[in-house]
Amino acid sequence: MRARIAGTGSYVPERVLTNADLERMVATSDEWIVERTGIRERRIAAPGEACSDLGAKAAERALEAADLRATDLDLILVATCTGDVPLPSTACLLQDRLGAGHVAACDISAACCGFVYALSVGDAYVKTGLRHVLVVGAEVMSSMTDWTDRSTCVLFGDGAGAVVLSATDEDRGILSSHLHSDGNLWDLICVQGGGSRFPTSEKMLAEGLQYLKMKGNETFKVAVKTLEEAAREALTAHSLSVEDLDLYVPHQANVRIIKAVASRLGLPMEKVVLNMDRYGNTSAASIPLALDEAVRAGRVRDGDLVMIEAFGGGLTWASALIRW
Ligand code: UT7
Repeated sequence: MRARIAGTGSYVPERVLTNADLERMVATSDEWIVERTGIRERRIAAPGEACSDLGAKAAERALEAADLRATDLDLILVATCTGDVPLPSTACLLQDRLGAGHVAACDISAACCGFVYALSVGDAYVKTGLRHVLVVGAEVMSSMTDWTDRSTCVLFGDGAGAVVLSATDEDRGILSSHLHSDGNLWDLICVQGGGSRFPTSEKMLAEGLQYLKMKGNETFKVAVKTLEEAAREALTAHSLSVEDLDLYVPHQANVRIIKAVASRLGLPMEKVVLNMDRYGNTSAASIPLALDEAVRAGRVRDGDLVMIEAFGGGLTWASALIRW
């Protein structure tokens, strides 16, 4: 059996935060942000709107597209680093919200790579007998953003995307996924406070350890190198070449990273899905959000070869090939 994507869905909060808005908050400019990142605006969750609120709406749309009910699901996986609460998992909250049966539900923590990791876990479970698996990537990155730090606050946004994986005996679906990590580089992108190392305290909050910190320039260089490697690894595993790819759906961190990877691979930009201009970097939500937009825009046809690929905190990087 293979796992095929039977339906996709996404949701973004209503509030739009533009580069012009950010110009009024920190020493930045629309010109700098667009030139260095490709981002023009991002969505920000309303007060009280949490990860599972976004995830539930994306999941409902994916279930509708797959023509399935929540009670058909055998497993719920949520990729996130901004869950509603530290405990329980956002996946359990989603199970209840969707009215799914008493099925297994858990979160996957792999930062911006979370969706590709979760998809690979869902794929493995389908191969061992489950019929329908919900895989959600949902983030409220604004909850860990330091709005006085111009090096990070211009980059991230909130949103959610979801897919339903269904078992098929047809020769299509997820061909393989290729997951990697290098914990030695953990401090390139991290939130240091709020866990067991630096539990929440007045001192921890005063030091700003609750916020996401990133060494952007170093991260950029590792991203380009590892994304190229993971793309080639996936293609080589199936004796395929870059020319065989119909669509490339990368993590939407920075248009310059994506262009550099596409250029190294020799992949024309017409085959690349880009939407960070409207949503910024939504971490684990970025790929399923971009994939859903591409599917609904008619950019993915039956039989197409689609590659998804991400890079993020951990460090983690991962690719997956899908025959649509
Ligand atoms: O999703 C997880 C994976 N994350 C990524 O892949 C992110 C990877 N990194 C990046 O996308 C880029 O490194 C950034 C967009 C974060 C930064 O772009 P950069 O071209 O690497 O800029 P930089 O960090 O080298 O900074 C260049 C200059 C600095 O000023 P000086 O030292 O040259 O005077 C920064 O202080 O730009 C300055 N700068 C800004 N200026 C205006 C940094 N942030 C801003 C800003 N507005 N928002």
